[in-house]
Amino acid sequence: MTAIQLLTNVAQLVTPAGVGASRGRDMRALDITRDAAIAISDGQVIWCGPRREWTGAADVETDAGWCAVVPGLVDPHTHAVWGGDRLADFESRASGVSYESTLAAGGGIRHTVACTTASDTDALLQATWQRVRRMTRAGATTIEIKSGYGFTLEHELRQLAVVRALAALVPATLVPTMLFHLPPRDAVARVDWMQAAVFEWMPAIRDAAVGSVDVFIEQDAFSVAEAGELLRAARAQGLQCKAHTDQFNALGGTELAIAHDALSVDHLEASGPAQIAAIAASRTVGVLLPGVTLHLRMAAADGRALIDAGAVVAVGTDCNPGSSPLFSMSLAMALAVRLNGLTPAEALTACTANGATALGLSDRGRIVPGSRADFLVLRSADWRDLPYTLGDDAVARVFIAGIETS
Ligand code: NIG
Ligand code: FE
Repeated sequence: MTAIQLLTNVAQLVTPAGVGASRGRDMRALDITRDAAIAISDGQVIWCGPRREWTGAADVETDAGWCAVVPGLVDPHTHAVWGGDRLADFESRASGVSYESTLAAGGGIRHTVACTTASDTDALLQATWQRVRRMTRAGATTIEIKSGYGFTLEHELRQLAVVRALAALVPATLVPTMLFHLPPRDAVARVDWMQAAVFEWMPAIRDAAVGSVDVFIEQDAFSVAEAGELLRAARAQGLQCKAHTDQFNALGGTELAIAHDALSVDHLEASGPAQIAAIAASRTVGVLLPGVTLHLRMAAADGRALIDAGAVVAVGTDCNPGSSPLFSMSLAMALAVRLNGLTPAEALTACTANGATALGLSDRGRIVPGSRADFLVLRSADWRDLPYTLGDDAVARVFIAGIETS
């Protein structure tokens, strides 16, 4: 018989209500149990409820110190494998040079591609390891990591191999995604490159055990037509889709991704009523990235309107060197309240159950019998201190599959 661990002395056990994706104003519904306990066996929650109602035996008792407990945070959008830095971009933006003009001039993402492809694999692994440790300490127990700084198939697969190697070394679940970030700048090379991406890259991506393909649809990135070819080819290989859409311009990328039944459309800062209505009418998750709003000093995605329209909304850090050097899902949650207009309860659901939905995962994001035992013990007895606290460490202890991480 496997051992049973009982977490006791939980001031509040807080979890999104319902099952699966939480939509629209249902995102506000939380189940809150006072003076609770959680029974864990084999990395899963086997029981939870009021402490006095637990009648079984326990092999180990863990004291939560009369603090609140919430599900582990799910970060559905990062670019955590990169080489070099973007400190010069950061400085020049502070003197008025925009992110878009740096990109259009061949810098920005293209600079990070040059630095990443020049880094040796061990250095990339070490740097990403440190980033993942920081993210986990701030409460992320499942982290999606995109490629996208490779540009050639060989280098994109190398980035994805770094994610897979790291996944075997860290307690958090790491989910690799192939990102088509930018096409070649030369118009002729671009046509050949697209052919290779559709016919050669997609089967190789499938064979590399990567579940999803993402594409950046924007004026200086892929057009809607090109993205359509990529997403169609991905679906034909049985891969799931995601897309970076409406970051600066609403070009039709959101509608395209939804037509391919994308798991998520991410960014949405420039989404208008038509895009918001399309997301709300679909099962595609709208992912808000408030770190970008803060770092690039741009308009925030209208999370309030998305939720009021009935969309499924999640939040991510978008951790990357150029648009969002944010390592903390706790802070992303806090920013989603201030910048995107979410209520604290909606923000908790966005960072847990709905983040899991954005990754196609149904075994986490809630603390219920049968779910993975991924949970956080907060420093406070009131869960609202998590979205309330700015930038400090509101997370005291992180448990992944029932085991406390250090
Ligand atoms: O999600 N917008 C495109 N890609 C990333 C930024 C990557 C970078 O600037 O290095 C994003 O914002
Ligand atoms: Fe991104």
